[in-house]
Amino acid sequence: MGLQARLDERKRLGLFRSMSVARNNSRVLNLASNDYLNLAMDSRLQSAGIEALRQYGCSSSASPLVTGYGPVHKELKQTLCRWHDFPNGLVWNSGYAANQAVLSLLPQKGDLVLADRLNHNSILYGVLRSGARLIRYRHADLDHLEALLADHCNERRNIFVTTESVFSMNGDWPDLRRIAKLKERYDFFWILDEAHALGWYGDRGQGLANELGVDGQVDLLVGTMGKSLGSQGAYTLFRYDCIGDYLVNFSEEFIYSTYLSPASAAIAIEAVAIIQSSVSLRRQGRKISKDIRHSLRGMGFSVAEGDSSIVSIVIGDAKKTMQAGRLLDSRGILVGSIRPPTVPKETSRLRMSLKATIASEDIERLLAAFEQVAKEFV
Ligand SMILES: Cc1ncc(COP(=O)(O)O)c(C=O)c1O
Repeated sequence: MGLQARLDERKRLGLFRSMSVARNNSRVLNLASNDYLNLAMDSRLQSAGIEALRQYGCSSSASPLVTGYGPVHKELKQTLCRWHDFPNGLVWNSGYAANQAVLSLLPQKGDLVLADRLNHNSILYGVLRSGARLIRYRHADLDHLEALLADHCNERRNIFVTTESVFSMNGDWPDLRRIAKLKERYDFFWILDEAHALGWYGDRGQGLANELGVDGQVDLLVGTMGKSLGSQGAYTLFRYDCIGDYLVNFSEEFIYSTYLSPASAAIAIEAVAIIQSSVSLRRQGRKISKDIRHSLRGMGFSVAEGDSSIVSIVIGDAKKTMQAGRLLDSRGILVGSIRPPTVPKETSRLRMSLKATIASEDIERLLAAFEQVAKEFV
């Protein structure tokens, strides 16, 4: 099919995507961006960025293997290792690049990767590049994962298990304690993407594995800095030095790209310091999440239990989902309108990225707008 025909097909199905400049002003309640702790506009982060701009300039201006890796990047890596209690790590330009590199390079031809069916695109396409065999287990279904482990554990090949903790499009999570138990029984390498759990879970905001006491069993943790941390970029943490050496030597994403700006690194360092002590903010965000879910269920929406920062309201039909998103937009509320192929067919949804700081009058405004959506679309 030619380019135009494929675009026309997308239009016909209500799946055409286009860009528009985001409205961001004080009257708009932006629940489409992943700034869960409202740190992106925080003056302490801004000052850290400005100071780094003055000291190190506007760009790292080179790949990390040339001169792009500076003192502030090293400090960030050390800060992240201390925060999560991992001995070693690497900072990346984005979570997409980090997942692509890790999943395409660590599993090798002959290995097996067991991956949650709803894992992020960056994980899936990373594995597909690796040449390893990929089997996707049903979303968060650990009976299925265990059955696959039992079937394949005697094959004398390396097995990798990869999952998100909080799922980006559902806001739910698998039983991480059970995965840790499975790891004791079936020896596998566990890769956990905590992109959407950082800042929200953990006694110092280190994520869900920490909160559940299983972070010690994770072999490689992926974190992103463009969400709760209010910055940009990502990191991977691991326990064996050879993993870092391997990624640095073989990852094209790492070697052939200008490194993260010093300002982004400095902003992330400041964010980690703030997040560690933001205990009451975490508590508040999780309460808001529970309350909003409860209210939405009362209106007839099907919304999962839980208290994560991501609340997904499945509408089903793609065109209806876009209309519902526009209705909220007309009332000054921005949410994500998510359609296939990002989510499975017939599960188009409104996706809210909550902020722990939403004021109670904004919650009222939000719920009133959803009453209207319920009347027209449920
Ligand atoms: C689970 C997950 N991992 C990785 C990424 C990619 O991170 P980044 O936006 O830093 O590229 C995302 C993006 O939203 C994500 O949801």
